Amino acid sequence: MSVSSPTTYLVSGGSGFIGSHVCDALIEAGHRVRAMDNLATSKRENIGHLEGNERFTFMPGDIRVLADCKAAVRGVDIVIHLAALGSVPRSIADPIASHETNLSGFLHMIEAARIEGVQRFIYASSSSVYGDSKELPKREENIGRPLSPYAVTKAGNETYGKLYAHLYGLPTIGLRFFNVFGERQDPEGPYAAAIPKFISRFLDHKAPLIHGDGLQSRDFTYVANAVEAVVKAASAADERCTGEVFNVAYGDRTTLLELVDALRDELARVDPAIAGVGVEHGPERSGDIRDSLADISKAKGLLGYIPAVDLRTGLRKAVPWYVANWK
Ligand SMILES: NC(=O)c1ccc[n+]([C@@H]2O[C@H](COP(=O)([O-])OP(=O)(O)OC[C@H]3O[C@@H](n4cnc5c(N)ncnc54)[C@H](O)[C@@H]3O)[C@@H](O)[C@H]2O)c1
Repeated sequence: MSVSSPTTYLVSGGSGFIGSHVCDALIEAGHRVRAMDNLATSKRENIGHLEGNERFTFMPGDIRVLADCKAAVRGVDIVIHLAALGSVPRSIADPIASHETNLSGFLHMIEAARIEGVQRFIYASSSSVYGDSKELPKREENIGRPLSPYAVTKAGNETYGKLYAHLYGLPTIGLRFFNVFGERQDPEGPYAAAIPKFISRFLDHKAPLIHGDGLQSRDFTYVANAVEAVVKAASAADERCTGEVFNVAYGDRTTLLELVDALRDELARVDPAIAGVGVEHGPERSGDIRDSLADISKAKGLLGYIPAVDLRTGLRKAVPWYVANWK
């Protein structure tokens, strides 16, 4: 199937950070998109610019309710399942909420997709499944023990994803996202991701808080790269992709201290006073992985995924949005 042929997509978590960018790309490519979300961790304004487009609909719904999933999937060709409760610390504080949304909700959605006979089911997994594995770079076949309830839910998604492919013949593809960042990623609340949190602190002229020594590293991935992987997975022609999971990352590693320096440079172009803001260190967080770097050769080889935007370029694209939306 080619992405250029008009197709009807369901994007669960469609008003979320990654989901809203996926909706943009699919609409831009001429497809019909139904975004389903219960707005638990996102704002409808993320997709406000799409409302009114005749190929786009927003469907309020909760993936913890099977009937909502069936209604959302009905008449759809391809499901992009992104709805979940993100954040490792959130899952440690409330494992049951994470389980209900990320694992039971996932099962509802994949079961609805099977019952309704969709052509393909693409879903978000996470680099957190690598758990305590020390191997670098991370290769898909070697995962460690999960370090958080969130990681357990994502590993469970992958187990179901593979099972549904092999038992029921539903073509599934899992995407293990590594630290995705960009415009519309929520900077607010205790469970915000590092980059938006650091940007908000800098804009307030307050030192960003780093847990630990700051030498832990991540494979920061600009959101357009993640969207590229979703689009490639949705149109992947190679049967060897069915039931598989793929690392989705840039394929480079940056420490948190290097990240903070890059952010400070970028923000100081807008507000020179930020050049003088330092960093604060706090205790390490349980559940955190020390180093993360993806081997992306599997996604490159089988999906034709090529991440076009590096960290610096991604920060340059994202920062103006945070500046414009800073309250
Ligand atoms: N952002 C990252 O760095 C990253 C990394 C690895 C994996 N992921 C995964 O990618 C997906 C998208 O994440 P994101 O960063 O866009 O987060 P997000 O919080 O912005 O998006 C998730 C969306 O799911 C919705 N949602 C939550 N519970 C729901 C429910 N019960 N019913 C319907 N909708 C519900 C939220 O309202 C939100 O819009 C998630 O599955 C996440 O676990 C993200």
